[in-house]
Amino acid sequence: MAKAQSSYAVILAFSLLVNLLVYTDGERELSWSKRAAQEAEQVAAISCSGHGRAYLDGLVLYGIKPVCECNPCYGGPDCSMFLTDCAANAGSGDPYFLEPFWMQRAAKSAILVAGWHRMGYSFPDGSYISTQLEASIHKVHAVVGNAVTKGKYIIFGAGSTQVLNAAVHALALENNSSSPATVVASIPYYRLYKTQTEFFRSVDYQFEGDATSLQNISDAGHVIEFVTSPNNPDGKLNKAVLQGPNSSAIYDRVYYWPHFTAIPTAANDDLMIFSLSKLTGHAGTRFGWAVVKNESVYQRMTEYMSESSSGISRDAQLRALKLLNVVLETGGREIFEFGYDTMKNRWEKLTNTLSVSNRFSLQKIEPQYCTYFQKIREPSPAYAWVKCEREEDKDCYKILEEAKVNGRGGSVYAAEERYVRLSLIRSQDDFDILIQRLTQLVKE
Ligand SMILES: Cc1ncc(COP(=O)(O)O)c(C=O)c1O
Repeated sequence: MAKAQSSYAVILAFSLLVNLLVYTDGERELSWSKRAAQEAEQVAAISCSGHGRAYLDGLVLYGIKPVCECNPCYGGPDCSMFLTDCAANAGSGDPYFLEPFWMQRAAKSAILVAGWHRMGYSFPDGSYISTQLEASIHKVHAVVGNAVTKGKYIIFGAGSTQVLNAAVHALALENNSSSPATVVASIPYYRLYKTQTEFFRSVDYQFEGDATSLQNISDAGHVIEFVTSPNNPDGKLNKAVLQGPNSSAIYDRVYYWPHFTAIPTAANDDLMIFSLSKLTGHAGTRFGWAVVKNESVYQRMTEYMSESSSGISRDAQLRALKLLNVVLETGGREIFEFGYDTMKNRWEKLTNTLSVSNRFSLQKIEPQYCTYFQKIREPSPAYAWVKCEREEDKDCYKILEEAKVNGRGGSVYAAEERYVRLSLIRSQDDFDILIQRLTQLVKE
């Protein structure tokens, strides 16, 4: 017995010693994750001349070396070649403006996913939602002060794109009438409201276009209004134009963050939608959420998520959790200062460039007090809503296209062709080329 005890003590001492040797400064020496970390760092070390990016899941050359994916207007194997004749890409809302922020925080923001990470369909409580992530979402709204979430329900979706339709579906079913709910938005509006609502061809709702056309109609039936605040494309802090017992609003607040707008007050709408895409810039993660007041609307939206996809990828939720926790580390200060400075500088540059001529005008956004920065802040919108002022310049998209600037024409937003949206949230390369092309155009 004594012999057994003494050999047990020797084994224990030996294992303590091994543990002491393996842990250095409280960090365990890596084993199975080393290879993944090395692979990730090898790809990250490919510089692509600062005009592109190599990715772990990108194409590979000769089965080994990852290939650079070049920014628009750059080419060659290492993206060092500027394609002089190329048009500025100011079309899509890819939020690459935040890429440098995350590159500067490579260590903090990286995640390594084990081969056995959350293989099941649900979390232990039977839900499809990480409670940690839900708590981080409540926290981020509380520190920014952009939305009241206390006592409200949170629903996750594959980007706000999926949440938007879940909201239409849920609100349409709240309506007891036998006729379909009418879905509207104020012009200029984000095109997806129309395309997605029409795409699903539901018997419960149909898209009818402009919200203001229903303003003076008393028997319009049940109306669901999309309210985008700040608005895409013009950055305005819109409010619902339809009120009353038969109207419900879906507040799309994906741009209601200090990068893009002053936060005058914490929004407290019944149904609000947000997205990681415009908060951290990770559009590719496809993660969005709704903040919902009404329990029955929440239940219907949850059912929608459950029936359509059994919830959101656990891997995407893990990544969102990591990114939000980096944001929260400094109470959002680092990301929002970076985002605001970048967007404000871009807006100033664009305004100065176009002010040389009176051929083009931009939307007016006044400086406004921001409760997050606790000061009056300058405009820093995600998009420029450009108007071609000359009588003969009816097709503004074409005018800009001829000057090698690709934006999005006004008709995409149900507005006049005299308008074009230019995306300001893309990469610095895209923005610099945009300014070059516009400088040339106004000179002419
Ligand atoms: C107003 C608005 N809502 C929703 C979305 C969809 O974003 P996501 O599905 O990436 O969350 C966008 C994307 O640009 C948008 O501009």
